[in-house]
Amino acid sequence: MERTTMAENGHLERRREAFFGRLKGPKLRQHQADLIEMRLPQLRVDLTQPAPADLARLFSAPVERFRLEIGFGGGEHLLHRSGEDLRCGFIGVEPFVNGMAKLLSALDATPRENLRLFDDDATLVLDWLPDATLDAVDLNYPDPWPKKKHFKRRFVNAKNLDRFARVLKPGGIFRFASDIDTYVDWTLRHVAEHPAFEWTARRPADWHEPFAGWLGTRYEAKAIREGRRPAYLTFRRLEG
Ligand SMILES: C[S@@+](CC[C@H](N)C(=O)[O-])C[C@H]1O[C@@H](n2cnc3c(N)ncnc32)[C@H](O)[C@@H]1O
Repeated sequence: MERTTMAENGHLERRREAFFGRLKGPKLRQHQADLIEMRLPQLRVDLTQPAPADLARLFSAPVERFRLEIGFGGGEHLLHRSGEDLRCGFIGVEPFVNGMAKLLSALDATPRENLRLFDDDATLVLDWLPDATLDAVDLNYPDPWPKKKHFKRRFVNAKNLDRFARVLKPGGIFRFASDIDTYVDWTLRHVAEHPAFEWTARRPADWHEPFAGWLGTRYEAKAIREGRRPAYLTFRRLEG
């Protein structure tokens, strides 16, 4: 595994590999800035230390399952899922500071002892996690990069599927949602070419059927308003 060290700005020194978006938006309100400064360091997973062999040690709640959400945006889905399954330890990753601030504000009102956070490229967390520890990875509406010349920036690629394959338990689940047809095709093709995964769809309709307990995300609501139809793909990590 690559060695990582903290830079002065608190971020890790290994180069970001799969993040090409904005780190900052409009100036944070004072309360949000305070949460980023005071609360985030308490909740952030510390990648300068080796990951515990038993991931349960990351959480103050007694947890027995683990789920990683990549690019949680404003955190509505993460907040919902972590409230729905208190025995599951969640790691939420979002480098966009305004999104992180939004989730931290929500956590002020509804704290979660089964939730840890990280505010940089999710590939850093993936490389830090021990083998076969996660029960699920959620990738909801990853940045679409619809232009052909930008396809290579998409989070789904052979290297990141290798990462998912390494950290997921056999039988673990990778969920992917997108409203961009070319990204859905791209993901189906990349996963089909990867020996560690199978698509769990049984009927053509499964493709457009939201995941169980799905409440939607902010990005999804915008896509539907603009007339695009979401697709929901569920892949299983095979044994061996
Ligand atoms: C289109 S938004 C979707 C947000 C949210 N999942 C939703 O559905 O509303 C994609 C998010 O992924 C985040 N992102 C992009 N690359 C990432 C990476 N390498 N690691 C973690 N998050 C990333 C972006 O900052 C952005 O917030």
